[in-house]
Amino acid sequence: MSDKAILEINGEKYEFPVITGTENEVAIDIKALRGSTKGVITLDPGYKNTGSCESAITFLDGEKGILRYRGYSIEELAEKADFLEVAYLLIFGELPTQEQLDKFHADIKSHSVVDDDIKKILDAFPKSAHPMGVLASLTSALTAFNPTSVNVDSEEEMYNAIVRILGKFPILVAWTMRKKHGMPLDYGSSSLGYVENILQMMFKNPTSDYEQNPILINALDKLLILHADHEQNCSTSTVRITGSSHAGLFVSLAAGISALWGPLHGGANQAVLEMLEAIKEDGGDTKKYMAKAKDKNDPFRLMGFGHRVYKNFDPRAKIIKVAANEVLSDLGVEDPILDIARGLEKEALEDPYFVDRKLYPNVDFYSGIIYRAMGIPVEMFTVMFALGRLPGWIAQWREMRLRKEPIGRPRQLYTGETYRPFKSIEKR
Ligand code: SDX
Repeated sequence: MSDKAILEINGEKYEFPVITGTENEVAIDIKALRGSTKGVITLDPGYKNTGSCESAITFLDGEKGILRYRGYSIEELAEKADFLEVAYLLIFGELPTQEQLDKFHADIKSHSVVDDDIKKILDAFPKSAHPMGVLASLTSALTAFNPTSVNVDSEEEMYNAIVRILGKFPILVAWTMRKKHGMPLDYGSSSLGYVENILQMMFKNPTSDYEQNPILINALDKLLILHADHEQNCSTSTVRITGSSHAGLFVSLAAGISALWGPLHGGANQAVLEMLEAIKEDGGDTKKYMAKAKDKNDPFRLMGFGHRVYKNFDPRAKIIKVAANEVLSDLGVEDPILDIARGLEKEALEDPYFVDRKLYPNVDFYSGIIYRAMGIPVEMFTVMFALGRLPGWIAQWREMRLRKEPIGRPRQLYTGETYRPFKSIEKR
C-alpha cells in the first residue's frame, strides 16, 4: 500500500499521507487539504466514508462480522467476562486484576447514591414521559449536584467523575422505570454485585425481599456487555463531539442518550418489538411487512435489520439470538413473538431485496425479546441499551480528552442564495 495519496484538482496535484491502522485499515490524512488547496473540502453526509478520529478502543470488521473490545473478541468477553470487567477494559485498556476490579467496584459503590433532590426532578415528569427523555434530563441534572465532574483535566479528576457516573447511572435507570410504574424509589445494596444491584433496584417489591435469579443476572450481564461499545456510532460520535468543547462528562453522556433515542439507532429495539407485535396482531402476516419494507413509497423499514458497518451478520445478534432461546426456555416463557422474529429473519435472509443490500439482523432485532421475558417494559428497552453503552461512551470521551483532540467543527458546502441587498417590506 502506498504511503501517500495524490489528488489532482484543476491540473494541480496535491499529495496527502496515507496512514494504516493496526488492523490494516487505510485512511487518507486530509488535515492539510483545505490549506494546501486554498479552500477545497470533502463532502460526506452521514460520514459513511469519513473517519473522525483514531481510536484504540473498539474494532469492527463489517464485512467479516468481527467485533473486538481492546483486542478481545466479543464472543469471548460475552462468555467469560462480567460487565464491570468489560467496563474497566474499555475505559482503561486492560482487563483488571482482581485487586484492580475490587477497588474499581468499591469506588463505584462509594458513589452509588444520588442527591435526594433528584427525586423532585423525577416527580415533575408525567408518568407518560418516555424514559429516554427522563434519563437524559436526570443525567444532565447530575452535573448540578456534582460540579467537580465538569472541569476534569487530570486523569484523577476524570477517574472520580467516571466512578461517580457508573455508581449513579444505574439508579437513574431503575428510578426511571419505577416512576413509570408508580413504584417507590429504592436503592439497592452495597453488598450486591453491580448487575445484581441493578436488578434489585429495578424490580424489588417494597413489601418483600428481592430474590436474585441467576438466569436474569447472566442474561442482563451478557446483554450489557454486548451493548458496551461500538466504535464511532451516532451516539458515541455525539458524546465525543459534545465533550470536545470541554463540556462535562455527564452532559456529554446526556447528549449521547438523546442521540441513542432515535428509532434508526438505539430506539430500534423498542421499534422492533412494536413491529413484531403489529405483525402478531395482523395474524402473523410477515409478507405484508416485508412488502412495506421494500416499498420505496412506504417509510416503514424492517426494524432491527441493516447496519451502517455490518454487511454481514452483526456478531452481537448471533449471540443474543442464542441467548433469547436459552433465557426463554430457562424462564419457561412461551413468546409467540420469538417465532415471528425467527420467521421474519428467515424470509428476509432469502429475499433478494435484503440479500442484495446486505441487510442482516442487528443487535436490536432479538434483544427486546429477552428484555420482555425479563419483565422489562418495551419503553425501557432503549434505556437498557444506554445502560450497556455507558462504559463505551465513557471510554471514548476519556480517549478524546486525554488525547487533547480539537473541538469538533465540520465544514459545509454552501448551496444557498448568493449576496442580495436587503429589501424593505413594502417591496417584498
Ligand atoms: C444500531 O452504528 C452503529 O454501530 C449502531 C449500533 C450500535 O451498537 O451503536 O450498531 C446500534 O443503531 C443498530 C441499527 C438499529 N437500527 C435499525 O434497526 C433501524 C432499521 N435499519 C435502518 O434504518 C438502516 O439499516 C440503518 C440506519 C441501520 C443503516 O442505514 P444506512 O447504512 O444509512 O443504509 P441506507 O439507509 O443507506 O440503506 C441502504 C439501502 C437503502 O435502499 P436503496 O436506497 O439502496 O434502495 O438499504 C435499505 C435502504 O432503503 N435499507 C432498508 C433497511 N435498512 C436499509 N430497507 C428496509 N428495511 C431496513 N431496515
